[in-house]
Amino acid sequence: MSIPSATPVAVVTGASSGIGEATARVLADQGFHVVAAARRLDRLETLVSEIGGTALELDVTDEDSVTALAAVLPRVDVLVNNAGGAKGLAPVLEADEDDWRWMWETNVLGTLRVTKALLPKLIDSGNGLVVTITSIAAFETYDNGSGYTSAKHAQAVLHRTLRGELLGKPVRFTEIAPGAVETEFSLVRFDGDEARAAAVYEGITPLVALDIAEIIGFVASRPSHVNLDQIVVKPRDQASAGRFDRR
Ligand SMILES: NC(=O)c1ccc[n+]([C@@H]2O[C@H](COP(=O)([O-])OP(=O)(O)OC[C@H]3O[C@@H](n4cnc5c(N)ncnc54)[C@H](OP(=O)(O)O)[C@@H]3O)[C@@H](O)[C@H]2O)c1
Repeated sequence: MSIPSATPVAVVTGASSGIGEATARVLADQGFHVVAAARRLDRLETLVSEIGGTALELDVTDEDSVTALAAVLPRVDVLVNNAGGAKGLAPVLEADEDDWRWMWETNVLGTLRVTKALLPKLIDSGNGLVVTITSIAAFETYDNGSGYTSAKHAQAVLHRTLRGELLGKPVRFTEIAPGAVETEFSLVRFDGDEARAAAVYEGITPLVALDIAEIIGFVASRPSHVNLDQIVVKPRDQASAGRFDRR
């Protein structure tokens, strides 16, 4: 594996599927050497065989895995904190602690670990960019969704805090908060139940992964003095987390 030190490097976590995969494609098109990272290495290898870049196995819940990622990167110009997701839908009184742990470990502590590990290199680049994919669940609560909404709120607070703490350093912070995007997200949330996952998008025209990836590409191509702080993006058919126009 060779990661060039003369080409800007973009690290995309969760690049084996959905928003992360589409983002890897867009950033590669823009000339970045993309480091595509996730647990399913076979998918990443197929992706980099198409777009170039480097496939790296990464589990954001594992400190050693994150340390190993940081160690092989000669430079980092862009970090997309995208790895994450939801598990289950349950009222607080029936909350499953394993599901909560999965959501907090992946979305919150995963973002913390990867950002901490790569920030020194992002700053050294002289023009670093951290994009964190939170959600409209970072702005709203909804019944049965507290495990996910609380994790996304916490992930967003972590990201927004960095915007202030790193003020004066050459690194920008952009939070992107999507509404419904049709990816493997609902399949993961409902443990592979395809009918239940499909029902989430029934009767609406949801966003697709490329819609979010193109926004990330736009953010990454702004001049270095421009910091897009927060971008909330929903399908036209969605007014809030629980309010859809279903036909
Ligand atoms: N789809 C939506 O409606 C929606 C809306 C708002 C926000 N989001 C957020 O967007 C992000 C991307 O989700 P998506 O919609 O593209 O879903 P997705 O298709 O399920 O993709 C999730 C990605 O996260 C990776 N991932 C999960 N656990 C990981 C771990 N421990 N270590 C490394 N990578 C891990 C997965 O890769 P591996 O399984 O190969 O590790 C996969 O590549 C998530 O943060 C999600 O919360 C999604």
